[in-house]
Amino acid sequence: MKKLLTEIEKTRSRLEPGAGEREELRRQVVQYTEGFLDAIDTLPAFVPNAEKERLSGSPIQDEAGSLEEIIDLIHLDVDTPGINPASGGHLGYIPGGGIYSSSLGDYMADISNRYAGIFYASPGAVRIENILVDWMADLVGYSKGYAGNLASGGSIANLIAIVTARDAFDIKASEMDKMVIYATEHSHHCIDKAIRIAGLKEAVRRNIPMDGQYKMQVNNLEDQIKWDLQAGLKPFMIIASAGTTDVGAIDPLKEIGRIASKYKLWYHIDGAYGAFFALTKEGKRKLAGMELSDSVVMDPHKGLFLPYGIGAVLIKDKVKLYNSHRYVANYMQDALSPEELSPADLSPELTKHFRGLRMWLPLKLHGVKPFRECLEEKLLLAKYFYTEIQKLGFEVGPEPELSVIIFRYIPEKGEKYADHFNELLLAEIHKDGRVFISSSRLNGKFILHVAILSFRTHLSTVDLALQILKDQLEKIKFAQ
Ligand SMILES: Cc1ncc(COP(=O)(O)O)c(C=O)c1O
Repeated sequence: MKKLLTEIEKTRSRLEPGAGEREELRRQVVQYTEGFLDAIDTLPAFVPNAEKERLSGSPIQDEAGSLEEIIDLIHLDVDTPGINPASGGHLGYIPGGGIYSSSLGDYMADISNRYAGIFYASPGAVRIENILVDWMADLVGYSKGYAGNLASGGSIANLIAIVTARDAFDIKASEMDKMVIYATEHSHHCIDKAIRIAGLKEAVRRNIPMDGQYKMQVNNLEDQIKWDLQAGLKPFMIIASAGTTDVGAIDPLKEIGRIASKYKLWYHIDGAYGAFFALTKEGKRKLAGMELSDSVVMDPHKGLFLPYGIGAVLIKDKVKLYNSHRYVANYMQDALSPEELSPADLSPELTKHFRGLRMWLPLKLHGVKPFRECLEEKLLLAKYFYTEIQKLGFEVGPEPELSVIIFRYIPEKGEKYADHFNELLLAEIHKDGRVFISSSRLNGKFILHVAILSFRTHLSTVDLALQILKDQLEKIKFAQ
């Protein structure tokens, strides 16, 4: 037995490198990441295709590999092809972030590997999560009695809210097809996914018409609720957006709150993209009414510029969140703690990465001010882009409420050719790769979509995007 254990030790000790080896591993990783950051302003925001893909030919095997070769593989086959979310030139969909200090929080959390799911296991890690929940609740305007959770992103955060709403209404399978959910066509697709996963797919889904600014029309909402009640249906939940992915619109949050309260409906706000703009003066004003919601989602990996892997949900009544997610198990009897709420009681997760540190550390280290000013910068840049793109002859959508701008070019040959023209333009911008923009469809038309949210997007990036659009526009016009 001892001989066998000594034999095993030789190999298993690879999992516990000594200080010297750790230093060397760290040196190589830091060298690579520093190189990446040094070049970030010149790296493409989009590389359509990997020329030679080697990852799939590099199997996981018993033998040890060399970190140098592994980093090389990551560099060529992971960090090069596709969208570069760390680049300020990422202006598509809803851009992510990746502030450096957050990676250090992850590094520390991974080394100490604190068990962040349960207060008893790591009071400090759980306190940090709860402190962050308090901070966000204050931003939204919730007062005492709320609870929240740091999830992996907006999709899971929305799922937690929708499951909580379902349970708060104690919906039985037999009445599912009578329950009514109200949203707009522009609510994020993760909402539909969450509705399905929550077992609510047979509920009636009403897409309330939007006004010219792509916001929910509250008169229509109320009329629809009245009509549904008369028809013997059971209105149950309204889902508003605080910043739609398509156009960045904020639904009329106050008016919807009034209707939700009048008809006693669950009021959920998806602020995954927009809610952190409440840190700014302008955003605070535009987002007034968030405090009326029963639940709200906000994504630190969007509006707080953190690396991917962190979304947040807040539920106004903590008992409802707890009732939906608590558990009992004999083997967990030691973990029950009345002192502080544990994330494991408030979400589907039990074992939990110490996600809070990647958010708490940057906020403590930098203070809130730079986050606020960075968001202010995004609001200003969006206004600037909106003005300048029109000077290039583009047709634009509504004035940006936050930091999304939609636009399209109508070629000389006319509207009929516009979809094709804009598709060509987008393909050329992607081929160029210095900035990345995305597209969508609005009223059946192909549109170009710019979202300014990366903390690395500045005036020079927006000017570059405008210059590229201008150059490519001329090129396509000339070729036609
Ligand atoms: C408004 C909105 N809600 C929800 C989501 C989904 O969030 P995640 O991608 O973090 O799951 C997104 C993603 O872009 C979004 O823009």
